[in-house]
Amino acid sequence: MRLAPSILAADLTCLGEALAQCEAGGADLVHFDVMDGHFVPNLTFGPPVVAALRPYTARYLDCHLMVANPEALLPALAEAGAGGVTMHVEALDDPGRALRAAADLGMAPGLALRPGTPLRAVLPHLDAVDLVLPMTVEPGFGGQAFDDGVLPKIAAARDAIGRASRPVALQVDGGVNAVTLPRCLDAGADVFVVGTAIFGADDPAAAAKAFRALLDREDR
Ligand code: DX5
Ligand code: ZN
Repeated sequence: MRLAPSILAADLTCLGEALAQCEAGGADLVHFDVMDGHFVPNLTFGPPVVAALRPYTARYLDCHLMVANPEALLPALAEAGAGGVTMHVEALDDPGRALRAAADLGMAPGLALRPGTPLRAVLPHLDAVDLVLPMTVEPGFGGQAFDDGVLPKIAAARDAIGRASRPVALQVDGGVNAVTLPRCLDAGADVFVVGTAIFGADDPAAAAKAFRALLDREDR
């Protein structure tokens, strides 16, 4: 069970401090929401910010690409020190080629789905991914309400992953908090992206620790 705080919800003027809070809170990964203003209406940060923050933490940098042409960013993200890249299946003409390109650059490839995209869109690629992410909000903004309607898709993804030829992580992202995280656990998720519920708290490191403790109970 891994915890991935999303720094989109952090104080963007102090991202180095946000990484220190992730470490103090026992985060396993740090989640970067890369948005281009085309695939989603919002515009955030990209490879230069990932590269600038790389020296501030030893944690694995988990990049969620909400961009229209994710393949074009892969070389720069690899150079920046990204550990994993999760691309939206809706943005890819040839998911197999994009996944191979990420792996060839030394990054763990993942596929994300919008809430309305059926799981079958990623099933042909399960043997080529390290991670599947069924989004629990429409991608683009932090702080949205969790969509319970995605839970059956998460459970179906857990079943499909059980039949895959390699270990595949099952990430959830969007509206994950102390109330909704247990629902994701029950559905079979094992990587939890948490933005607002950590960085919106008075003490983000303490909030992260509380989530880590919840996951530790499951790990035992
Ligand atoms: C939304 C992003 C999320 C977002 C999660 O498009 O992918 O990672 O930061 O934030 P919360 O936890 O606030 O929903
Ligand atoms: Zn995300």
